[in-house]
Amino acid sequence: MPEARADLARNRALWAVVNAQFTAEDAARAWAAEELTWGLFGVPERDLGVLGDVTDLDVIELGCGTAYLSARLARLGARPVGLDLSPAQLATAAGCQRRFGPGFPLVEADAEAVPVRDASFDLVVSEYGASVWCDPERWVAEAARLLRPGGRLVFLTNSVLATLCVPEDEGFATERLLRPQRGLRRVAWPGGGVEFHPAHGDWIRVLGANGFAVEALHELYAPTDGETHGYYAIATARWARRWPAEDLWAARLTRPASGFGAY
Ligand SMILES: C[S@@+](CC[C@H](N)C(=O)[O-])C[C@H]1O[C@@H](n2cnc3c(N)ncnc32)[C@H](O)[C@@H]1O
Repeated sequence: MPEARADLARNRALWAVVNAQFTAEDAARAWAAEELTWGLFGVPERDLGVLGDVTDLDVIELGCGTAYLSARLARLGARPVGLDLSPAQLATAAGCQRRFGPGFPLVEADAEAVPVRDASFDLVVSEYGASVWCDPERWVAEAARLLRPGGRLVFLTNSVLATLCVPEDEGFATERLLRPQRGLRRVAWPGGGVEFHPAHGDWIRVLGANGFAVEALHELYAPTDGETHGYYAIATARWARRWPAEDLWAARLTRPASGFGAY
């Protein structure tokens, strides 16, 4: 799979740059924050209740970046493992563990081939991690393999609508459909990384084929006091108050994979 290997190298290089430009500095703010929130506009988990009680759950975050989500889960009583492809992002995460605590394992690996044995976790999470940067057919299969029966997968990604409205060469979502949904899947940004943006029907097919029952799709809008992100140019707060900028999926592993998930 030469294209997959090239994508991996391209994304690893991109995240070293993003770490130097933004996340290494922003991680201190993210780790210090008390509340568990989701996405660019900080929608509070308490308003959604998507995770439920995480006390004593074994959790793996696929594409953890600087691992602030795992840190917040650890503070709520979970036992997280943070996994990421980028040594730079993991070095920032390790620095934050030393500065703020708590500590938990950090693993450098590809979320499409996780070096951990089957059925080790109760919850798999991803916030703009594997959910954006990995091929859904591969990382969702890995999530299913890593979960114990009845375990849950919760992940956040760009909304399908936002992806359709973002210009070809990046920038904030507009009020026009700028790319076709038909064939939307692997999106290689000029001069940037490679992302995966399945449509809703494709997510449901891949999740179902890997044994998941969809519990919820939360379409996230910016809160009234939400502000446009200062680094990630995806959707302005004004746009995201009118249209959902992010999709937050929750699914439960209820049966073995059928293997008919290709799209
Ligand atoms: C946007 S960060 C996600 C972390 C955090 N929740 C956030 O929103 O900043 C995306 C992360 O995905 C990681 N990533 C990209 N491709 C990956 C892969 N194949 N396996 C594991 N992690 C990957 C990148 O290294 C990066 O740290």
